[in-house]
Amino acid sequence: MIHIDRLVLRNFRGIVRGEVELAPLTILVGPNNSGKTTILEALALAHGFRPIFGNYDIQNILSYIHRTYASESLDHLVYSYGARVSRALIAFRTREEVARTIVIDVHRDHLDFYLVDKPVNLEELLTIDREELRRSAGGKEIAHVHRFRGGGGFSLVKVLADVVIVRYDLVHRFQDFLYSVWTDIANRGITSRVAEWVSQIAGEKYIDILAEPFGGKPTLYLYRGDRARVRVGDVGDGVKMLVLSRTVVEYVDPEIVLWDDVEAHMNPRALQLLALWLAELVDGGKQVVVTSHSLEAVTTIAELCDKATIVRLALENGELRTEYLSVEDVEKLKSLGIDVRA
Ligand SMILES: Nc1ncnc2c1ncn2[C@@H]1O[C@H](COP(=O)(O)OP(=O)(O)O)[C@@H](O)[C@H]1O
Ligand SMILES: [Mg+2]
Repeated sequence: MIHIDRLVLRNFRGIVRGEVELAPLTILVGPNNSGKTTILEALALAHGFRPIFGNYDIQNILSYIHRTYASESLDHLVYSYGARVSRALIAFRTREEVARTIVIDVHRDHLDFYLVDKPVNLEELLTIDREELRRSAGGKEIAHVHRFRGGGGFSLVKVLADVVIVRYDLVHRFQDFLYSVWTDIANRGITSRVAEWVSQIAGEKYIDILAEPFGGKPTLYLYRGDRARVRVGDVGDGVKMLVLSRTVVEYVDPEIVLWDDVEAHMNPRALQLLALWLAELVDGGKQVVVTSHSLEAVTTIAELCDKATIVRLALENGELRTEYLSVEDVEKLKSLGIDVRA
C-alpha cells in the first residue's frame, strides 16, 4: 500500500510555500482559509487524471468544488491572485516509493502538467526551463489543460495512488456516479453491508440499497425489511453522506481517502460511526486525511485510532505553518481556553 509521508507545495492555490507530514490518519484543523481544502486537493492529484468511475474523476471533482468559477478547467489550482507565477509544484514523498512531483507550468492560456518520478531539488525545479524539465528531470507530460476551455488530452498516467475525496457538496453527485455502475456494485454485495451499517444511526432498519428510476430519473433507495423503501435523497443528510460515501469508497477501494469538513451533517452518534469506520480503513492499510472545524470531531476520531495525528494549520502571506498535536495537547489547550481552530 502506498503511503504519503510528506506533501510539499509551492505556488499551489493560496499556499506559496508549505509542507505537511502525514500519518496513516491525519486530522487537519485550523481557521477558515488556512489551507485545509487546498491540501486535500493537492493530495487528490495523486490520483492523476485517470477516470475513477463514470465521469467521476479528479478534474471533474475539483472543478465542481470551485464551481463558482465560470471556467471548467483547472486554472484555479495555481497561485495567481497575488503574484503571477509561471510554475507550481506538488511533491509527494513516500516511504515505499521514489518521490513524485507534479509540476504545473502556467502559460497564458493553458496549463501543462508534468510528472517527475524521481527525487529532485524543488528549488531547482521551480526555475529550470521547460525544455530542460522535459529532458533531464525525467519530466513526463501527464496532461495539457486549456485554461478556459475545460480539460481534454489527459493521459491515463497514475501519479501515485487511487484517491476518493468526500465533501458534503460532492455527495449529491455520488448518487449519479453510483447509479451508472450499479449492477457491478450490487453484484459485489456492497449494498446490503452499507445499508445494515448505516441502520445503526438511522432510527430505522435498512437491509439493502436498490436502484430504480423515479419519474425517469436515476434514483437510489434504502430498502426496509417491511418492504417499504425510502429514497436516499429523502433521508437525513448525515445518513445520506454515510451511505453514499461508504458505497463509493467500498466500490472504488482507493488507497487514499480524503474527507473535507468531516463533521458536516454528523450528529455525535453518526460521527462516532464514521470515526470507527475511518479507523477500520486505516487498519486495512488505507491512508486517511480529514479536515475539521470541530474539536469534538478531532478528539472523537483521534481517540479511536492510535495511528492518528492532529495537525494544526495556519496560513500567513502564503506561508503554511504546521503544528503537530496529540489528543492530550488538544485537551490541554482547551483547558487553557485556547481554541486550536483559531
Ligand atoms: N488560485 C488561488 N490563488 C491564490 N489564492 C487562492 C487561490 N485559491 C484559493 N486561494 C486562497 O486560499 C484560501 C482558501 O484556502 P482553503 O484551503 O479553501 O481554506 P480552508 O479549507 O482551510 O478554509 C483563501 O485565502 C483563498 O484566497
Ligand atoms: Mg475548506
